[in-house]
Amino acid sequence: MTRGGFGRRIAVAAFVALFSVCLAMTLAPRAGWAQQARQGVNPTAQAVKEEQLLKELDRVTGRVSIPDSKAGTLIQPEGREWRAYHERTLHWIGGIAILGMLAVLALFYSVRGKIRIEHGWAGVKIMRFTTFERFVHWLTASSFIVLALSGLNVVFGKVLLLPLVGSDAFAVFSQWAKYAHNYLSFAFAAGIVLTFVIWVTENIPNRTDIAWAKQGGGILGHAHPPAGKFNGGQKLIFWSVVLVGAAIAASGYVLMFPFYGTNIADMQVAQIIHGVLGVLMIAVILAHIYIGTLGMEGAFDAMGTGEVDLNWAKEHHSLWVEEEMSKARAAGGGAAVPAE
Ligand code: HEM
Repeated sequence: MTRGGFGRRIAVAAFVALFSVCLAMTLAPRAGWAQQARQGVNPTAQAVKEEQLLKELDRVTGRVSIPDSKAGTLIQPEGREWRAYHERTLHWIGGIAILGMLAVLALFYSVRGKIRIEHGWAGVKIMRFTTFERFVHWLTASSFIVLALSGLNVVFGKVLLLPLVGSDAFAVFSQWAKYAHNYLSFAFAAGIVLTFVIWVTENIPNRTDIAWAKQGGGILGHAHPPAGKFNGGQKLIFWSVVLVGAAIAASGYVLMFPFYGTNIADMQVAQIIHGVLGVLMIAVILAHIYIGTLGMEGAFDAMGTGEVDLNWAKEHHSLWVEEEMSKARAAGGGAAVPAE
């Protein structure tokens, strides 16, 4: 045998040996898994690993002796998808909507500042909302704030509040927040119905709203497009509160009374609708709160005392002021009353 032929044989033998070792290393674990899968995984075995169960089984089911047969399903693929939505997707949607809105409002405030009454305070007030209208507004608003904060605790509490306050305080807070969320839902639902009843006629969209919207509602520039009692932006808020609020309430009651005519898939849909619309509505209401307080001079009085300054009313709701004036003239009195 030549020296070159011997060398080639050694190289081939070394290659075959190396290849066999690699093959054995690759196949060995699979053979183990295959064997395990054939034997099946015993979910109650002490050494069973959760990850192993998740990888190998689509679902973990067993038998239960209670009438509720769905309690026999411990883990199912849809449940994992839903958890991913709840632990990740909803966090992103909520984070972007709420922090995004706060960022937009902060930017808007830094560019535009507070929208002032351009002609200054008239010192004469005009009645805008009755006591009952303000009661309905604050009933809806105060219950909304508690529902929003307690709802946010369900979504973000574990990651944001728990590390700050510790598990004992978090557990007590969450329990009370949950009671508040359940019981104040009735005040909120009543507020939504009353809001619709008392203001629907003044919130039907019309041509004035299109003209108002074309001028950007006068928010960016210094124009004061004519508007009735409610302008285009306020009508948008009204319909968001009524329609989105109704959808939130309906899905909320599905969650509060689980499995009354619903199955697991329906419950998941209800929770997705409730959570997503809830966080979006919080973002929209932040804009509403901004414009009613920090953003616009003279606006808060409307829901504070119920009377607004005449110049504010003329600048932001000129058609409504004309209407009120002609009503007062027809009645032989004055709608505008001097300030104290
Ligand atoms: C009639 C009104 C409402 C009812 C009946 C209701 C009911 C519920 C129920 C039963 C839950 C499940 C809580 C749990 O996990 O134990 C929930 C969660 C939640 N609610 Fe409400 N709710 C209402 C209004 C609101 C409002 C107005 C908001 C927002 C402003 C809101 C935001 C949330 C959020 C963000 C969650 C967590 C959703 C999730 O974990 O996916 N809810 N609600």
